[in-house]
Amino acid sequence: MALYKKALVVGATSGIGEALAVKLAETGTHVVAVGRREERLQALLGKAPHGMISTMVLDITDLPSIASFAAALTAAHPDLDAIVLNSGVQRAFDFGKPETVDLGTLELELKTNYTSYVYLVTALLPHLQSLSKTKETYLILISATLGLVPSLVRTPNYNASKAALHSYITTLRQQQIDAGFAQLHIIEVFPPAVQTELHDTIHQPDLVGGDSLGMPLAAFTNELFTKLGADPKLFVGIGPAEALIAEGGLEYQRQKLFETQQIQVKAALSKFLKKK
Ligand SMILES: NC(=O)c1ccc[n+]([C@@H]2O[C@H](COP(=O)([O-])OP(=O)(O)OC[C@H]3O[C@@H](n4cnc5c(N)ncnc54)[C@H](OP(=O)(O)O)[C@@H]3O)[C@@H](O)[C@H]2O)c1
Repeated sequence: MALYKKALVVGATSGIGEALAVKLAETGTHVVAVGRREERLQALLGKAPHGMISTMVLDITDLPSIASFAAALTAAHPDLDAIVLNSGVQRAFDFGKPETVDLGTLELELKTNYTSYVYLVTALLPHLQSLSKTKETYLILISATLGLVPSLVRTPNYNASKAALHSYITTLRQQQIDAGFAQLHIIEVFPPAVQTELHDTIHQPDLVGGDSLGMPLAAFTNELFTKLGADPKLFVGIGPAEALIAEGGLEYQRQKLFETQQIQVKAALSKFLKKK
């Protein structure tokens, strides 16, 4: 059964995004697939049922282009009811040897994994908010379990970028609730290590066979698809994240704290806010 009518998948040229795009298309969701590598987008067309995927090229780190991308996208696809932000990069840095840290690479990683997501969300929210007045809409963000517990010590900025994304998503979701968009569902996905190009030798040259690290992509994609279909409220966790988001787990408890404390803080702040 189709999960959505039409889904945008950003970062659909390899790995999780490509596999999810194909799975969605095979199950009846039209997909708009986005990435930088045009030849990969063209190849994707042949991996899915005819006519189920259309493509757009975008470098998400080209921040000034995001508003016009969003305008062109929503004009061409006004029925887009799901947006999957998935693109990402992962880089190793050794702050034990600070002279080896390339801050330009670090900045680009942060921009790719965090700032560009905020730009995309800002540009695409008006469409989702408007559509959610008449039907269920979905903003799905592919995060990382390393954003909750930074246990991969070699990738400090990656872990931090995902932690920033997680914090942003938590307040973004609450602001949609506060603004009355009850049918706009914001879902954060916490994958385990998955066998993709993210940690292959091309992207992380100090790893050998890194693309065979973690869960097989097909098994991950099937589980992701099943869990998205089960109407999750906040999170999809696969692998180590499952224990963190389960009742009593670290992230479960943090969300409970957030629920109560954000109300208390809002009340405490109210007398300091200028009347509109
Ligand atoms: N694999 C894992 O172990 C793992 C674990 C936890 C979380 N994740 C997350 O899962 C998501 C997908 O990663 P993956 O494992 O599937 O890696 P992947 O195979 O390397 O795919 C990354 C995707 O991101 C796109 N991308 C990167 N930079 C971009 C840019 N500037 N503009 C547009 N698209 C860009 C790539 O497309 P182009 O290069 O064609 O632009 C590609 O489609 C990421 O957010 C990653 O952090 C992965």
